[in-house]
Amino acid sequence: MSELIYKNRRNTNSKKWDDQTEMYGEEGLHAMWIADMDFEVARCIKDALHRYVDEGLYGYYKIPDEYYQSFINWEQKHHGWLTKKEWIRFSPGVIAGFNWIIQFVTKRDDAVIVMTPVYYPFLKAVENNERKLICSDLINNYGRYSINFDDFEKKIIENDVKLFILCSPHNPVGRVWTKEELCRVIDICRKHNVFIISDEIHQDLVYEKNKHIPSFAADNYMENMILITAPSKTFNLAGCQNSIVIIPDEELRNKWDYYINGIRVLSGNPFGYIAARAAYEGGESWLKEVNSQIYSNYKYLISRIDSELPKAIVSPLEGTYLVWIDLKNYLKENNIREIIQKKSHLAVDYGDWFGGERFSSFIRMNLATSQENVKIAVDAMVKCMV
Ligand SMILES: Cc1ncc(COP(=O)(O)O)c(C=O)c1O
Repeated sequence: MSELIYKNRRNTNSKKWDDQTEMYGEEGLHAMWIADMDFEVARCIKDALHRYVDEGLYGYYKIPDEYYQSFINWEQKHHGWLTKKEWIRFSPGVIAGFNWIIQFVTKRDDAVIVMTPVYYPFLKAVENNERKLICSDLINNYGRYSINFDDFEKKIIENDVKLFILCSPHNPVGRVWTKEELCRVIDICRKHNVFIISDEIHQDLVYEKNKHIPSFAADNYMENMILITAPSKTFNLAGCQNSIVIIPDEELRNKWDYYINGIRVLSGNPFGYIAARAAYEGGESWLKEVNSQIYSNYKYLISRIDSELPKAIVSPLEGTYLVWIDLKNYLKENNIREIIQKKSHLAVDYGDWFGGERFSSFIRMNLATSQENVKIAVDAMVKCMV
C-alpha cells in the first residue's frame, strides 16, 4: 500500500505556498521554488512525534544513543560508510552549520571558493561573514555540468583560497559527483591546503545508476574537512531544524566545540531528534516511494518539454529534486520574470540568484510535489512561451 500522501499546503503557514511576498512581491503564485516537499512525512515519524506529544513532558532533553545509532546505521547501509558517534555534532540547520564553520576556519577577508551556479546561501554565507567570494563556474555541456578542474586550481592559487564549500550532490545542476571527480577536487585542495566543507544534505535523493559518495569515503582528508548532512531534505523535515555535522579529526572537533561553547547552541529541540531518529529507523520504504514519484515527475517534465518546448535545455536529474532549466532560446532580453511570474504565475528560483547575471536565463523548479502540480507549471509555461 502506498505510504505517500500529497498535501495541499496552502494556508498551512508553509513558506513555499504562503510566504511569497518577500521573494516575489505578491502571494498566490503556483509554488515550485524553495526546497521542501508537498508530501506528508512517513507514518513512523508522525507516530513517534505523537507518542512524545502525548507524554506531555517537554523539559530539557537527553539525546538518546539510538538517535546517533539510527544515523550511523543509515549511513552504513545507504552510503557504505561507517561514521562514529563521537564524530557527530549538532547544528540547527545546514546553513547555520556552514556559517559557523566559516567563522572558525577562516578569518575576515580570506578567500572562499564555490562552484557556480550554486545554492545561493553559500554565496551569502561568504559575503555576510566578510570573506572574499571566488567563483569557479562549472562547465555546461548542453545542460550536463562538470567541474572545471583547471579553473578551480588556478583560482585557488591566484587568490590564496582558504576554504572550499562543496555541494554534493550539487544544487542546482543536479549532478551526483563521481568518486573520481571528488578525489580530484580533494587532491587539489590537499595540494594547496584548502579546507573543505562538504554539504551533503541531498545525499539520499539520487536516481537510477547514480550513487552518492560521502566525501570522507572518497578520500581520507579528515584533518581538513567537515561534512554536514541532515534528514531534512530526505524526509521532508526542514522545519525540525536538526542537522548532523561530522568531524572525524579530534583537533577540528575541539575547535568546533570551543566555538559552540562560545555561542551556546549545544543541542536542538526534542522534536527534531525524535523525528530524525524515527526517519532513519523506519523511513526507508517511504523514501523509495518519494524518489520514484520525483523521478517520474522529472520524466513527465522532460517528455512535455521535449515535445512542447523543445528549445529549453533541462539538466539531467542525477540527484536532488531540483531541476535546472535553461530558457535562453525562448527569452527576449531580461524578460524571464515577465514570462514566469507575471504571465505564468509561477514561483520558481531564478538563475541569477545562484551566482549572477550569467545564469539569468535559467530557472530552478522543485519536483517534490504531485504530478498534477508539475503539469500546472508546464501548462502555464507552454501557454506563455510558445
Ligand atoms: C545544498 C543545500 N544546503 C543546505 C540547505 C538548507 O539547509 P537547512 O534548511 O538545513 O539550513 C539546502 C536547502 O535547499 C540545500 O539545497
